[in-house]
Amino acid sequence: MLKVEGPQNMLVYTGKEVDAVYLGKAVTAGSDSAKRLASLKTSVAQEIKNNPKIADLNKEIQVEKGKQVFLQTCFVCHQTDGRGVPDQIPPLIKSDFLMADKNRIIRGVLMGQTGQMVVNGKRYNSTMTPLNYLTDEQIANVLTYVRNSFGNSGEGVSVEEVSKMRKEAGKPPGNPYE
Ligand code: HEC
Repeated sequence: MLKVEGPQNMLVYTGKEVDAVYLGKAVTAGSDSAKRLASLKTSVAQEIKNNPKIADLNKEIQVEKGKQVFLQTCFVCHQTDGRGVPDQIPPLIKSDFLMADKNRIIRGVLMGQTGQMVVNGKRYNSTMTPLNYLTDEQIANVLTYVRNSFGNSGEGVSVEEVSKMRKEAGKPPGNPYE
């Protein structure tokens, strides 16, 4: 057994079996500090979000990221310049259908769209496959891109709006290409 001699040094050993009380206070003080830190970080994030310059930059970032999604996924049908294919794939250029209803179009990408659709006065009756394998962020970005390209200009689409629609729409069918 270990035998300790010499005067008691409280820094090394208090003599108590458990230092729970002392430790407990330290932990509480630490977690108060962590809470305060978290709340300060939230405030900074909120301030940044409310700053119009930063909001514009964030939208530009969404547009650039969305362009990449578009050039991987959507261009196959809608064409790189958004003009579509006559009588088969509707155009995204100055599309009234696209700009009229944000939720309808989020749903369209998630669930696919089929049946009659009138875009800029022309009737289409075709099928867009569900693209629900894209992440909420990818969908938010690509829709922000198309709503701010090809002569369109409007509000972006947030990740939250897509997540909400994905929950509301239920579990859509899987990736048709898989
Ligand atoms: C497989 C081909 C295909 C792909 C890939 C595709 N679409 Fe479509 N899209 C269509 C068709 C076809 C319609 C019309 C559906 C109908 O007639 O009901 C349509 C309709 C639309 C519309 C509404 C009409 C309009 O022109 O404004 C939007 C917006 C749209 N697609 C966006 C996208 C975006 C964004 C992507 C990529 C994430 C995408 N589409 C990928 C074929 C496709």
